[in-house]
Amino acid sequence: MADIMPRATGDTATLPPIMVGTSAAIREVLVLADRAASGHATVLLTGESGTGKDLIARYIHARSSRAARPFVTVNCAVVKDPLLESECFGHIKGSFVGAQRDAVGKLELADTGAILIDEISCASMRMQVRLLEFLETGEVQPLGASGPPRRVDVRLIAATNANLTLLAHSGVFREDLLYRLRVAHIHLPALRDRPDDVAALVAHTIQKTGRAVRFSDQALALLAGYHWPGNVRELQTTVEQLVWMAGVSVIDVQHLPAPFRTPGLRVVSMVERRRQLADDLYAGVIARTISFWGELYPLFLSRDVTRHDLREVLRRGLRTTSGSYRALIPLFGMEPHDYKRLLNFLAAHDCNVDPRPFRKRTAGTADRGSFTMAMLENPRKAPSESSVERPSAES
Ligand SMILES: Nc1ncnc2c1ncn2[C@@H]1O[C@H](COP(=O)(O)OP(=O)(O)O)[C@@H](O)[C@H]1O
Ligand SMILES: [Mg+2]
Repeated sequence: MADIMPRATGDTATLPPIMVGTSAAIREVLVLADRAASGHATVLLTGESGTGKDLIARYIHARSSRAARPFVTVNCAVVKDPLLESECFGHIKGSFVGAQRDAVGKLELADTGAILIDEISCASMRMQVRLLEFLETGEVQPLGASGPPRRVDVRLIAATNANLTLLAHSGVFREDLLYRLRVAHIHLPALRDRPDDVAALVAHTIQKTGRAVRFSDQALALLAGYHWPGNVRELQTTVEQLVWMAGVSVIDVQHLPAPFRTPGLRVVSMVERRRQLADDLYAGVIARTISFWGELYPLFLSRDVTRHDLREVLRRGLRTTSGSYRALIPLFGMEPHDYKRLLNFLAAHDCNVDPRPFRKRTAGTADRGSFTMAMLENPRKAPSESSVERPSAES
């Protein structure tokens, strides 16, 4: 139960954690957090990993009227069903393999306080249904229990670094739960989008080490210009390492690790993020959790997905089909008569990708193998081998 905050014993136990930063973005976060703290509404925290979702959850709790009551956390990425359900709702002895005695769920432990449900995008569909029921009724029924459910009064705070709207579009996250969760929505901005906060965060981190060390202005400027893929968490470890390892009282440019001295890396990081999105979209389309016309297409029209992203998805497809546009049709889960529609759509939005490099490069057997495998799962729609090769397929 290490993750249950102690109830207040003195006046310091419930002091809100310090949220460092004076950027407009952080001030906006604090305004929203204070507003959330003054009520009991469910809160949804979004933002990349390391941006301070945990911290702001504790901040909200500590500034709320529930501050002296428990603050309990559950991480849906760490605990899987049925343990996750049991962790939240409790269970009765023998209700599943390994349930050797009754256990009280964290929602009950959090009664009169708050629960942070972290990485909620990882909750199974079943868990999502149970959470939705809980939000609607406030009732807790342990796994395997038959008696009347217990009513509890818990403020729910959910956190995620995923795009829940995108996940809801593709059917892996319940839309009704999303609506319930985002009664109060606070987005934690990435550190790269608020470089003004870097100096204060560096000073805060140094202060915690207790060392009399500072950074030169030039070094601070480089830190402020860095893209911080790991956000504040990465800043903290970077600064701590430099403070302990540098062995000087003023940390200057030459003490910084290479990535900080190479401005081009900022661009690399943006490319990296877009690549990740294209990977996710492509995987979703292939796995049929994202429908090309039903979801990807509307996301493109609403500009949530850019032309660049769409081209990247096509490239991944063409790599698999050895450069055949026609073979993309079954690969992307479309009907044969969609071929013309796809080509028209791509041409109209200037999204065509030259298929020729994929033909040359994939003359070997590896990609052909994976293509054939994918097609075999749906033999009726599989194109003939010749259509994979035919140059006209690109027209
Ligand atoms: N604005 C901030 N001021 C001070 N520390 C911060 C701030 N934002 C994040 N941190 C610290 O950075 C680390 C990562 O934050 P955390 O809340 O765990 O991020 P997340 O939950 O979004 O991954 C923690 O040690 C946290 O205390
Ligand atoms: Mg966290």
